Amino acid sequence: MACESFKVRGFRSDDLNRVMEINFECLPENYSSFFYLDLYRRFPKTFLVAEADGDLQGYVMCRIERGLSKLKSLRPVRQCHVVSIAVRGQHRRKGIATKLMQTAMNNGKEEYNTSECYLEVRVGNEPAIKLYEKLAFSKVKRNFGYYMDGEDAWVMAAPIDDHN
Ligand code: ACO
Ligand code: ZN
Repeated sequence: MACESFKVRGFRSDDLNRVMEINFECLPENYSSFFYLDLYRRFPKTFLVAEADGDLQGYVMCRIERGLSKLKSLRPVRQCHVVSIAVRGQHRRKGIATKLMQTAMNNGKEEYNTSECYLEVRVGNEPAIKLYEKLAFSKVKRNFGYYMDGEDAWVMAAPIDDHN
């Protein structure tokens, strides 16, 4: 329930094993420890974890990129690319992912001057698509066969200004 308490804070290197476990538990896309630590080293302000019941229950990590806007055609912009987000099963539907996303998007804007946020999501991942739509993301492109098992991805994007 939304009233149960949790806290979102910055990732620290000693969170690494727990974050990797949560990622394994929740998603088929897994990464090396180098991958996590590299994102943390380069973009520490948009690598966040959520704590509840004295344990980590979720994380979000992002890469700051420069590219053409996915929302306003052909304009170069700084983008916050959400590489991965997950919340453990027992703690879902409490607003944890919403808070992780909002904090990452705000920090992306404040710390790295990003004006847009984007991500890829499996076309069949209804919970995640609902979460992103609630945060003003829209589907901008379908990437056919994007995932290892052949599933398509929606690229979804949102302007960051809407979340201040
Ligand atoms: N069914 C329908 N809508 C849902 C669901 C669901 N199972 N889960 C979330 N939503 C929508 C609802 O609108 C919800 O608001 P409500 O609870 O008031 O109705 C809204 O999203 C916000 O939900 P949160 O509580 O903030 O989301 P939660 O903390 O439960 O985390 C997440 C959502 C991250 C998708 C979680 O289900 C999860 O970890 N799933 C497995 C991993 C995953 O799919 N990660 C995303 C992959 S894409 C990527 O990483 C870029
Ligand atoms: Zn991606």
